[in-house]
Amino acid sequence: MPKYNLDSKELAEKYDELSESQLDNGKKLIERLGIANGQSVLDIGAGTGRLAFHVLEQIGPRGRLIGIDPLPERISIAVKNNRFPNAHFQVASAEDLSFIPSDSIDSVYLNAVFHWVPDKKKALEEIQRVLKPGGKVALTTGARELAHTACFRVVTDHVLSRKPYSSVVKLDEYVTARLGVTSTQLVELLLEAGLNVANIEIVSRRRRFSTGAQIVDFLESSTFGNYLSHVPLELRDQAREDIVAEFENRRTEDGIDFRTYTIFAIAEKKSSTP
Ligand SMILES: C[S@@+](CC[C@H](N)C(=O)[O-])C[C@H]1O[C@@H](n2cnc3c(N)ncnc32)[C@H](O)[C@@H]1O
Repeated sequence: MPKYNLDSKELAEKYDELSESQLDNGKKLIERLGIANGQSVLDIGAGTGRLAFHVLEQIGPRGRLIGIDPLPERISIAVKNNRFPNAHFQVASAEDLSFIPSDSIDSVYLNAVFHWVPDKKKALEEIQRVLKPGGKVALTTGARELAHTACFRVVTDHVLSRKPYSSVVKLDEYVTARLGVTSTQLVELLLEAGLNVANIEIVSRRRRFSTGAQIVDFLESSTFGNYLSHVPLELRDQAREDIVAEFENRRTEDGIDFRTYTIFAIAEKKSSTP
């Protein structure tokens, strides 16, 4: 389970600054979702609101957007940066959307969020409930069956399987290790929630960073402090340094870059209940 009390103002600010590659994926997801002018939209796990601001440009002044996130520091940045009167940001989790009426939302999206949600079944039931008939949900998430290709985790595990970490760190306690889903499990979950799966694909792209320290900053801020929580406190600074050095070893003249594989899924609420 992720801990939600490890976040800080600094981590939230860092995420806002370093989340360009998540934003790029998010924009591609929104393109696939096909959000139209005037729609009502729910951004689940909105973080600091960068993708929501992009969506608000698309729905125009007649649309409305609700952005939720369980982390108060992230929501507070979204509120501070928001210039749109038709946007509302609040602290809440995917599993409890009780403040949103049933059949009221045209489009829901979760960008780089679903692997974090502890109760995925409940979250999808709630999404199904708040969507209008024919409304859509879109999400991006890592594919669990491709965990061995997930470069950030592979490099981290590589360092933590060496001394002095190997005897005290359990690699499968990496925070999202047990939370992620395979693409087949995702299809099953969407179907079980009563949604029609319109499209599911695994998208490959390159992500480039300028330094190893920037990658570790990104990992710490995007996991809201959970990244090295499985490493004993007294070894964490040293682990951070060793991981930075390991990423630096992979530098080419263009910087440090990796190929990543992300599930993009779109599902739809049935138009009428059978
Ligand atoms: C990597 S960030 C992605 C933020 C944003 N969607 C983006 O595209 O930049 C993951 C976000 O998921 C949120 N999150 C974690 N557990 C959640 C839950 N149960 N319900 C909703 N959001 C959750 C975190 O608080 C965090 O802001």
